[in-house]
Amino acid sequence: MEKQLLRITVNNEYHELYVKPKRLLVEVLRDELELTGTKRGCNTGACCACTVLLNGVTVKSCSILAMQADGTEVTTVEGLAEGGKLSPIQRSFLDHGAYQCGFCTSGMLISATALINEKPSPTKKQIKEAIHGNICRCTGYNSIIRAIKAVAEGKYKEEE
Ligand code: FES
Ligand code: FES
Repeated sequence: MEKQLLRITVNNEYHELYVKPKRLLVEVLRDELELTGTKRGCNTGACCACTVLLNGVTVKSCSILAMQADGTEVTTVEGLAEGGKLSPIQRSFLDHGAYQCGFCTSGMLISATALINEKPSPTKKQIKEAIHGNICRCTGYNSIIRAIKAVAEGKYKEEE
């Protein structure tokens, strides 16, 4: 099938590229744009390792076609740190040891970021709900929940 023109802004950078109609968003991000922070786990929409923000809303990038993201703004984990400074969520994950192998971490960070953007002071229940689809085989989730809670409690601010 003929390639189609995809116009997409990723991490504030505008791109135009030709992609096959069946190319997945995760494939374009990782293989064409070399943004390999977004992980490809199950590839079936079950693990959320591939989560990115599409116009500010979380999506599983293995579950949508790249062309469905035409004209949108995407944020991947590489876009969370601005000017080389980690975001509050990223710093809190580091401080709380909220990762082990790291495979789920980019998806977790994106889900947590979306939550804090929408509800700056979520309850523990809301935190659990926000990451309920993000599968982690290593941490047992407690350190992740503590990290997000610390941001929710205002212990981490944007760095000046
Ligand atoms: S890789 Fe997309 S949900 Fe698992
Ligand atoms: S840190 Fe290994 S899967 Fe979450």
